[in-house]
Amino acid sequence: MAEKKTRLAAVANEKGGVGKTALVINLGAALAKKGKRVLIVDMDPQHNAGSGLGVELDDDSISVYDLIADPESHNAADAVRATRWKGLELLPSHIDLSGAEVELVDKKGREERLKAAVSGLAKDYDVVLMDTPPSLSLLTVNVFAACREVLVPCQTQPYAFRALEDLFDTVAAVSEEINPDLRVSGLVATFYDRRTRVSRTIFERLKSDERYRNLLYDTVIRSNTTIADSSEAGKPVVFCRSTSNGARDFTALAEEFMQNAPL
Ligand SMILES: Nc1ncnc2c1ncn2[C@@H]1O[C@H](COP(=O)(O)OP(=O)(O)O)[C@@H](O)[C@H]1O
Ligand SMILES: [Mg+2]
Repeated sequence: MAEKKTRLAAVANEKGGVGKTALVINLGAALAKKGKRVLIVDMDPQHNAGSGLGVELDDDSISVYDLIADPESHNAADAVRATRWKGLELLPSHIDLSGAEVELVDKKGREERLKAAVSGLAKDYDVVLMDTPPSLSLLTVNVFAACREVLVPCQTQPYAFRALEDLFDTVAAVSEEINPDLRVSGLVATFYDRRTRVSRTIFERLKSDERYRNLLYDTVIRSNTTIADSSEAGKPVVFCRSTSNGARDFTALAEEFMQNAPL
């Protein structure tokens, strides 16, 4: 049988607070719970994914910043951290990552530093999920250069469509100039609350818009405070509150994600 390819997926939306990090942590955890080997790459200098997975870093920890700022001096495998859960590992971020854009401005191949850093690691995993900061920066471009697919959380709130248009433009530009393999592979409605008109309206518009409807996941992530609470506690919701709506939604999302594997 042919060897299965690692899924390399970015989670991106240039808007903040739409559920990117929650999706990375909890989809990753749900996949690990199903027996997949998952690496989460935290490319947001705010390192919320690392916190949400309960990984504490000390001064000696190597982060993804070290790998992209000074690749010659670091080995990517040394940066990978275990979590408390089997099959779920983390390539941690560091606040210094926020300066990488300026530091790398005149460096050759600056868009492909992350790709180089993870190229030796990816084969050990079934899925690599990469979290991105809430703005288009060199960090996001590095993630897009390293991935084959982009999963887009789409908050069922006003302005969601504007954010989607921006994201599609960015993906088109990166795929033209840097990474022809890149494509948006899915849209996931987040913070869904069927009791509110705005949630229902935005979701209906996503389902009927011909640009988006074929990409839209059937699974929606409902608004559920357990998701925020579990992130705060450093534990993915599928492991700490397995009967909550949040855990149910991310478990269903993981199943759909595996079914949507690109050929
Ligand atoms: N479906 C949800 N229901 C309730 N709270 C959520 C949900 N998804 C995310 N959150 C919380 O909302 C805040 C913003 O989400 P986050 O995933 O950090 O967004 P982003 O990474 O896009 O900025 C966080 O506190 C997070 O725990
Ligand atoms: Mg985030």
